[in-house]
Amino acid sequence: MYCNAINEVIETKILAPSLSPEALSLAITGAMASTQNRGERSSGSVSLVMFLIIVLFSLRGVSGQSPVFACDVSKNPGLGAFGFCNCSLGIAARVDDLVKRLTLQEKVGFLVNKAGAVSRLGIPSYEWWSEALHGVSYVGPGTHFSNVIPGATSFPMVILTAASFNTSLFEAIGKVVSTEARAMYNVGLAGLTFWSPNVNIFRDPRWGRGQETPGEDPLLSSKYAAGYVKGLQQSDDGDVNRLKVAACCKHYTAYDIDNWKGVDRYHFNALVTKQDLDDTFQPPFKSCVIDGNVASVMCSYNQVNGKPTCADPDLLAGVIRGEWQLNGYIVSDCDSVGVLYNNQHYTKTPEEAAAKSILAGLDLNCGSFLGQHTEAAVKAGLLNESAVDKAISNNFATQMRLGFFDGDPSKQLYGKLGPKDVCTPQNQELAREAAQQGIVLLKNSPGSLPLSPTSIKSLAVIGPNANVTKTMIGNYEGTPCRYTTPLQGLTASVPTLYQPGCPNVACSTAQLDDAKKIASQADATVLVVGADLSIEAESRDRVDIRLPGQQALLVTEIAKVAKGPVILVIMSGGGMDISFAKNDDKVTSILWVGYPGEAGGAAIADVIFGYYNPSGRLPMTWYPQEFADKVPMTNMNMRPDPATGYPGRTYRFYTGETIYSFGDGLSYSPVSHHLASAPKLVSIPLGEEHVCQFQKCKSIDLLESSCQNLAFDIHLRVKNMGRMGGSHTVFLFTTPPSVYNAPKKHLLGFQKVSLTAQSEQLIKFKVDVCKDLSVVDELGSRKVALGAHVLHVGSLKHSLNVRI
Ligand SMILES: *[C@@H]1O[C@H](CO)[C@@H](O)[C@H](O)[C@H]1NC(C)=O
Ligand SMILES: *[C@@H]1O[C@H](CO)[C@@H](O)[C@H](O)[C@H]1NC(C)=O
Ligand SMILES: *[C@@H]1O[C@H](CO)[C@@H](O)[C@H](O)[C@H]1NC(C)=O
Ligand SMILES: *[C@@H]1O[C@H](CO)[C@@H](O)[C@H](O)[C@H]1NC(C)=O
Repeated sequence: MYCNAINEVIETKILAPSLSPEALSLAITGAMASTQNRGERSSGSVSLVMFLIIVLFSLRGVSGQSPVFACDVSKNPGLGAFGFCNCSLGIAARVDDLVKRLTLQEKVGFLVNKAGAVSRLGIPSYEWWSEALHGVSYVGPGTHFSNVIPGATSFPMVILTAASFNTSLFEAIGKVVSTEARAMYNVGLAGLTFWSPNVNIFRDPRWGRGQETPGEDPLLSSKYAAGYVKGLQQSDDGDVNRLKVAACCKHYTAYDIDNWKGVDRYHFNALVTKQDLDDTFQPPFKSCVIDGNVASVMCSYNQVNGKPTCADPDLLAGVIRGEWQLNGYIVSDCDSVGVLYNNQHYTKTPEEAAAKSILAGLDLNCGSFLGQHTEAAVKAGLLNESAVDKAISNNFATQMRLGFFDGDPSKQLYGKLGPKDVCTPQNQELAREAAQQGIVLLKNSPGSLPLSPTSIKSLAVIGPNANVTKTMIGNYEGTPCRYTTPLQGLTASVPTLYQPGCPNVACSTAQLDDAKKIASQADATVLVVGADLSIEAESRDRVDIRLPGQQALLVTEIAKVAKGPVILVIMSGGGMDISFAKNDDKVTSILWVGYPGEAGGAAIADVIFGYYNPSGRLPMTWYPQEFADKVPMTNMNMRPDPATGYPGRTYRFYTGETIYSFGDGLSYSPVSHHLASAPKLVSIPLGEEHVCQFQKCKSIDLLESSCQNLAFDIHLRVKNMGRMGGSHTVFLFTTPPSVYNAPKKHLLGFQKVSLTAQSEQLIKFKVDVCKDLSVVDELGSRKVALGAHVLHVGSLKHSLNVRI
């Protein structure tokens, strides 16, 4: 029991947050900076009033060194008598007690991210909005850095971490981030509620926010969501009712467009089939809630089939809270409720917009809309006060699980965490490991990588991203502990010569002469090219998916004159059409490094010099430019349409040419797979009354009781044939019989294993027939197709007959 809201030694403290004019102007500058950095913001929706409110409430965070919490009995002993401050009571009883004490006006103040204060009850204002996509972030007004904690560990962007295919890494990163977040909370620099991760499916290479996601595959995204959320949330004492910090899976749902050719997310109506919704867009959210037990889901800006997601009772109350049983709160994107009224004109009045969204199941509004219009909506009879009670109860219950109502946090479970626990050498080492594990080797001609650090006497390092810092940490970033740029990472091993070759990633004019000179002299050349947030970002989708400006010219010209091997390093979130380099024999190796985080340069050098054997695999398809020219980004269909020539999307459906494919990635050691055991036949027992006994069926329904608990094992022997130890991801794909427009293949499971040189391991996959072999039909029901399912591991194929 860590609660000490009551029965604690009462000491009188005089808290006088008197601020000097300097501190005030510092606070205002800080708040302005964070306002400019804010991502989750509909354009132009920050009113001056809201801004001033943010400034005023930021004062505590910027200047103060104590956390925000309720039930501070040391200041007000009378609070100990309130049931909601009494930790011996259950959470539901405490929440009920609190809600009963509030007026309607006060209640409405708890529906917005800048939640109101009720001083008579000892409740301070709380800022719900913090972010921790790949490290504690300053985006979101709830979190700041100061001289007390100037930076936090900045991990790679999620798309690169996903490329590691290492589920324990996903969780390990979440755990470090939540430790640093709690440490920052304890000194008044962070909140407890973080609106991360982003688990939207990366269905189109042009999407500016693809870098934030775990890629295009529903299974990988589901595993990432559950793993990262567990790492963030799981309480050190194992109590499932307690949260270390609260995570949030966003943006629910089918939100994968920001701003493409004038179509923006505030106006986009995603037309999504039931089938695509259920087998592509929903699975990561479902897993986040069910497997990850996440404390929050954020609804998106866009509409799905004509309804704004934040006002859709089927998607919110029906699916998230009903089917998936969310234990937590549903929050709107910032400022989705305003957007559905102002931009989408979904309702006639603002009161109706407030009522519709709360009745649909929305609990918290990022923004101020519900704070402004909900009271009037209740008075107009558009919703009952009980609906408001339900919403704020979900919010309060989350805060209770975080210990917010338990009194002084310094006397609780995480009370000892502080500045010494942020940016520790171990945490920063994990950032380097994550980048190592994610980096993907896409091409490697004999004699190219790894470079020998002893025989390379000089290395030419060229390219607009060769010596970048901030580019490596992408968006939803924080201030990192430190940076190691690619140039610095490489220079730590060998003498280098450096030329940027382009003034920036846009590279309107390549500066070839000096760059060619150093490449022609050096023993090897590393070219670091790609994109940054000026090319792909929130509110910025691409049209062109080739290397920007004259970067391709730079690469080709350098490769022509280079004396030694030419290593092309692509730093980007989305895939690039780099067919020119893939087909150029002079470009001897290609690496994709995502946006690799604060230690990115060290990890790139580790891979280039063979200190780490590359093991990352692409978590998304790399399409040719032709795809971007031909396919409207607004077409949400996953499946191809032969009638229109639409090629479909992702490795599961796309029928066209690729530059590189999902799962691609080489290692310095070849690995072989052998099937040790797998059944050739699976029989699903059906009751005598079953209709399939009498007529031919092409599939059986997942709900059939006969389908339950039917599983088998596949055993594989995986051998490292090379001279270097390393990690290897084993992918198990399946191709179902072609019924219901099923995917041509889909990932059924993956395991990352570590193999020393020449060693062999036995790998087991347990396959649940109904869960893993099923497909979603056109109406959204899961079915197991009868007939031949082909299992693929590497180049192995195994046919499995499923029958009744
Ligand atoms: C807290 O709740 C417990 C359990 O109901 C009760 O026994 C105790 O008296 C309460 N404490 C206070 C200070 O009200
Ligand atoms: C408010 O509650 C009453 C009584 O339960 C119910 O009949 C009515 O439909 C509710 N109104 C709204 C707008 O939900
Ligand atoms: C590389 O970047 C670092 C960090 O910004 C900077 O200190 C250094 O001067 C740069 N090196 C060169 C050669 O430009
Ligand atoms: C997965 O990540 C963890 C944490 O970095 C690491 O210890 C482990 O070795 C990785 N697994 C493999 C097979 O590489």
